Amino acid sequence: MENLRQQLSRIVGKALREASGLADSEPNVITASRPQFGDYQANGVMAAAGRSARKPRQLAEATVEAIGEAQEGDAQGIIASAAVAGPGFINLRLSDAALVRHGNAVLGDPQALIAPRPKRQKIVVDYSSPNLAKEMHVGHLRGTVIGDCLGRVFERLGHEVIRQNHVGDWGTQFGMLIAYMSELDANAELLQAELEDLESFYKAAKGKFDADAEFAERARQSVVRLQGGDAESLQVWRRFIDESLRHCQDIYQCLGVDLQLSDLDAESRYNDELPGVVSELREQGLLEESAGAQCVFLPEFQSKDGEALPVIVQKSDGGYLYATTDLASIRLRSRNFAADRSLYVVDSRQSLHFEQVFAVARAAGFASAQLSLEHIAHGTIMGQDGRPYKTRSGDVVKLADLLDEAVQRAFALVSEKNPALDEGERRKIAATVGIAAVKYAELSKNRMSDYVFDWQTMLSFDGNTAPYLLYACTRIKSVLRKHAEGSAACRLTQLASGEERSLLLKILQLPEFVELVASECYPNLLCNYLYELAGSFMRFYENCPILKADAQVRDSRIALVRLAEHAFEQGLALLGIETLERM
Ligand code: ARG
Repeated sequence: MENLRQQLSRIVGKALREASGLADSEPNVITASRPQFGDYQANGVMAAAGRSARKPRQLAEATVEAIGEAQEGDAQGIIASAAVAGPGFINLRLSDAALVRHGNAVLGDPQALIAPRPKRQKIVVDYSSPNLAKEMHVGHLRGTVIGDCLGRVFERLGHEVIRQNHVGDWGTQFGMLIAYMSELDANAELLQAELEDLESFYKAAKGKFDADAEFAERARQSVVRLQGGDAESLQVWRRFIDESLRHCQDIYQCLGVDLQLSDLDAESRYNDELPGVVSELREQGLLEESAGAQCVFLPEFQSKDGEALPVIVQKSDGGYLYATTDLASIRLRSRNFAADRSLYVVDSRQSLHFEQVFAVARAAGFASAQLSLEHIAHGTIMGQDGRPYKTRSGDVVKLADLLDEAVQRAFALVSEKNPALDEGERRKIAATVGIAAVKYAELSKNRMSDYVFDWQTMLSFDGNTAPYLLYACTRIKSVLRKHAEGSAACRLTQLASGEERSLLLKILQLPEFVELVASECYPNLLCNYLYELAGSFMRFYENCPILKADAQVRDSRIALVRLAEHAFEQGLALLGIETLERM
């Protein structure tokens, strides 16, 4: 089913093409910036006028006339009024009948609220991607939830999504860790206990590495053995990796993030391909040796004083780098997966890395022209002190601890609001609210900016927060429970008040925001939408009696509440947030 904006674009586009005589003119329909003048506006007339040497306002008038003719006598017409404004904008108001018709169609088939895109794409989303030497920490939170949301949005629009968790499992640190494991191995129980806390395990190994030269040497030798394919080293390494992945999967499960072991795209996967990447670059004449290292120099990468900057793909000791592995993975994503888009949801501090890798991949033909490579960068989570978020003692904040704390805090909150509820129920609600609060805090911020982590704000019932949205949903569910009999059969029949109209319009606009998130990759656009939706709902709820209204008005309002439920549930599901019956 076409959404409102698509319907308007089709109709106004046809009128504009008729009036301008330009077969390829675009109406450029967007949500109105000032709702008092209309629901939508068409901004495409000015560009078309420029191209056909017409006066913009005149062309706008002619377009409006063409809209009128096209719709005349058509009961299905959706535009109630079209009016020229300013230098040549067209303000568009939808007819109430069209809104009601569209709403009823969605009631009959709620999934049709967000229709699939006509062209199915294959989209790789590379996200989360922690380094397995350590435990996941707060720095992984943003990329993990943003990537998860994007994956859900693409799938909802009918695209094929290939999730890739590009974990770091192959660097020099692993030599140190397996050397340390070999020492503890004499005592299997102790080793198992130590591995339970990867963060302190890493610290202990690092401490020994720094203090004990002999151990450091053993560590260096074990990397060489490992990367050379020594069976025993590989076995010890595998054990560590499995333990570390178990930690990650626990976190994903707790967060409700859809990453499985089958989505792994570990760095080690590319071990055998790296020499081939380098030789392919050499065959293409892209390689240059510089200080013993194999480098690619591209004209677009220069230092401030105009010196060429290298992208190093092999060190002088023969070792490969992060960039080499990423080149190998681009080759896979382009040649084997034949993807249309490949997204990297990674901290903005890696921007230069991705610019370089993308440029080399293009130059070498590792990425086909049809593959769009996109770094979906995000900022850092800061503490109240304006520095990256740390514990009081200055340690990294483990993600597992942070999520525990979220659920505990939510439990205190729910208990305070709802002391009468039994404890089991309160715990269940707290698990949903706590995790939702943390995820929503990430998703609702513009991903490019750093933001200050603050428990008070994210767990507040006021403002653009998960508790506020979830609370609005429980209001909806409670109305629908009270009207349980027959609510499924209710239909919209009228829009008796301005609040009803605004709410219905808002509900039907959900797909426009979902498409925007798919193209721009900013989940906060969907969060803002849901926040406005909640506002529209609350205004309706406070001003329009539902259960006490006359039967016909009541049923139409119940239908509207049911539609609001669909919009909330579907919108929140795209953020990876479940709704609650009560809280
Ligand atoms: N493991 C890397 C890190 O911890 C992030 C990997 C991101 N993905 C990629 N294909 N480079 O910084």
